[in-house]
Amino acid sequence: MAQKSASRFGVYTHAIVRAIPESLCLEALRIENESMVDLTRARQHHDRYVEVLKNQLGLSVVELSTEESLPDAPFVEDIAVVCEGTALITRPGAPSRRKEIDAVKKALQDLQLNVVEMTDENATLDGGDVLFTGREFFVGLSKRTNQRGAEILADTFKDYAVSTVPVYDYLHLKSFCSMAGPNLIAIGSSEAAQKALKTMQQMSDHRYDKLTVPDDAAANCVYVNIPGKGHVLLHRAPEELPESVKVFEKLKEHMLIPVANLELSKVDGCLTCCSLLINKSPDL
Ligand code: GLY
Repeated sequence: MAQKSASRFGVYTHAIVRAIPESLCLEALRIENESMVDLTRARQHHDRYVEVLKNQLGLSVVELSTEESLPDAPFVEDIAVVCEGTALITRPGAPSRRKEIDAVKKALQDLQLNVVEMTDENATLDGGDVLFTGREFFVGLSKRTNQRGAEILADTFKDYAVSTVPVYDYLHLKSFCSMAGPNLIAIGSSEAAQKALKTMQQMSDHRYDKLTVPDDAAANCVYVNIPGKGHVLLHRAPEELPESVKVFEKLKEHMLIPVANLELSKVDGCLTCCSLLINKSPDL
């Protein structure tokens, strides 16, 4: 089963996204409170991201409406973990984010996925802490995700090994890593990122290739495998993180799509945070 998934890694048919409310600028959770979010630019970046998913990747995109009372709602990745036909609705570590569940759960049910809920009040899990490699899961134990959350994920996706990785100083595990290809982990250069990678390598019996980029934020990219087009990678724009983009440009087999994300990054939003990617291919 795991091998089947590995060979279809990154194939998606649908995406769920959620628009940006005005309240994001002042009320979204953030680790540092230094720079103001420019709402117009944040919306432009998000529109472009959604346009890429629809028109360049050919995905059917479900766009959830914005709610001013949910300033962090555009970061839909945190609200569910979708693997094959199952969607695990998380119990986000920040209580202020738990009401985001309703709309995401309904959208996943409408897509006729097997929706599993995390009801244990001792568990917390943010999707931003979940790295699925196609072979196994790594779950960051952070301020948002705890051991019980990781255990429930392991119970839900029993075909896959689940290992935990301590995350310090960053919001999520995927604040500094992501999958950039079927066997390729993109990883930032900071000491924390490299330490987490070492832990993942020690936990796994599989050897992954790695793509090290100078900026931790750039290591969060979105990999999609489009039948007929091949490997596609959405990565941070060169005007934002130029040195890391030079590393992506060395990938010869990937079609690269730069996407700006500077405004959402001010409230700790990464590229993967802004969508839930789903494969509803009939052969799954
Ligand atoms: N602003 C994203 C989060 O803190 O969950």
